[in-house]
Amino acid sequence: MRTQNIFLIFEILIMISFIQLVNSEPEQLHITGGICSTYDNITANGTYHDNIFSLLSKLTSRSTQTRFTNFSIGTGSNRVNGLYLCRSDISLDTCGACVNTSTDFLLTLCNTKKEAIVWYEECMLRYSNRSIFATEETTPARWYFGYLNVSQPEVFSGLLNRTMEGLIVQAALPSNTLRFATGKANYTAFEGLYGMVQCTPDITGLECWDCLTTALGMIPTCCGGVSVFTTVALPSCQLMYDTAPFIIAPPPTTLSSSPSPAPSPLPID
Ligand SMILES: *[C@@H]1O[C@H](CO)[C@@H](O)[C@H](O)[C@H]1NC(C)=O
Ligand SMILES: *[C@@H]1O[C@H](CO)[C@@H](O)[C@H](O)[C@H]1NC(C)=O
Ligand SMILES: *[C@@H]1O[C@H](CO)[C@@H](O)[C@H](O)[C@H]1NC(C)=O
Ligand SMILES: *[C@@H]1O[C@H](CO)[C@@H](O)[C@H](O)[C@H]1NC(C)=O
Ligand SMILES: *[C@@H]1O[C@H](CO)[C@@H](O)[C@H](O)[C@H]1NC(C)=O
Ligand SMILES: *[C@@H]1O[C@H](CO)[C@@H](O)[C@H](O)[C@H]1NC(C)=O
Ligand SMILES: *[C@@H]1O[C@H](CO)[C@@H](O)[C@H](O)[C@H]1NC(C)=O
Ligand SMILES: *[C@@H]1O[C@H](CO)[C@@H](O)[C@H](O)[C@H]1NC(C)=O
Repeated sequence: MRTQNIFLIFEILIMISFIQLVNSEPEQLHITGGICSTYDNITANGTYHDNIFSLLSKLTSRSTQTRFTNFSIGTGSNRVNGLYLCRSDISLDTCGACVNTSTDFLLTLCNTKKEAIVWYEECMLRYSNRSIFATEETTPARWYFGYLNVSQPEVFSGLLNRTMEGLIVQAALPSNTLRFATGKANYTAFEGLYGMVQCTPDITGLECWDCLTTALGMIPTCCGGVSVFTTVALPSCQLMYDTAPFIIAPPPTTLSSSPSPAPSPLPID
């Protein structure tokens, strides 16, 4: 019984911090990981390098206006293609801050690399000399998960699969132009299961379904499968779950509108 009371207090604390999160923008950003290509180093002051810089500046300046942008710059072998995607439930202020931070990250860590990607829980930014638009890509991958495990692994695994499969179907619907879905399931009396899935909006529903299904299938091997929270990030999609609430707001209707007003606090069930 004492344990249950501790959980209850814990949930209330989470609820309080959740409400604070909704009220103070921009929130803290959470990095999942980043990767630079290892092949073909580029000259630090060549045209391709300059183009990366211009591309990232352009993307950063757009990121306070809309949550997804693809952009190309340069010609021939100096052409760089880049895009960013922000989570649909965050504000445009947070989107801008996340893409700005991501730009710094890539310019610092991948300064002389032809291709690079970085994922935060709030946004993803990438560039490449290859054509990366309207193309499903499921590698490379990065993930992040909690050290603590859930209390009833078998029950949880089934619930996680069912819940996330439901969200994946929602994100893949032709009518879901944001390619974004969130949801909540009841796990134990004191813990929920909160889920979020998102694809880049330039891929088809079927590709989105495939990408997210790949991400979900990775959870047992990459992340233990029974952690209290997990994020799996692929170039074309991202999937997150947590036993504590993390969804900021219901999604906006378009990529450039505001998320709907903050939801009223979720009941503790
Ligand atoms: C690129 O640079 C890294 C270290 O900066 C080096 O290990 C690698 O061999 C280089 N690759 C090529 C193709 O020159
Ligand atoms: C490019 O960088 C190299 C070495 O860092 C330097 O020697 C060269 O002068 C630079 N060229 C220009 C145009 O800045
Ligand atoms: C963005 O990608 C689409 C394909 O999805 C392409 O038609 C369009 O030209 C791209 N926009 C820019 C600015 O490169
Ligand atoms: C972007 O980051 C730079 C520092 O890296 C900072 O000077 C600038 O104010 C930031 N811009 C926005 C819009 O957050
Ligand atoms: C991108 O760069 C790689 C490595 O230099 C090269 O093999 C490939 O042909 C380039 N792709 C395009 C579309 O230029
Ligand atoms: C959930 O899905 C994973 C990956 O597909 C699978 O390994 C696991 O057995 C599933 N769990 C249940 C309870 O069906
Ligand atoms: C979760 O539990 C609450 C309260 O018991 C209930 O209102 C809600 O419908 C349940 N949600 C689901 C998805 O079963
Ligand atoms: C969590 O579960 C995984 C997979 O069953 C296991 O490898 C790991 O040791 C567990 N971690 C803790 C802290 O119990």
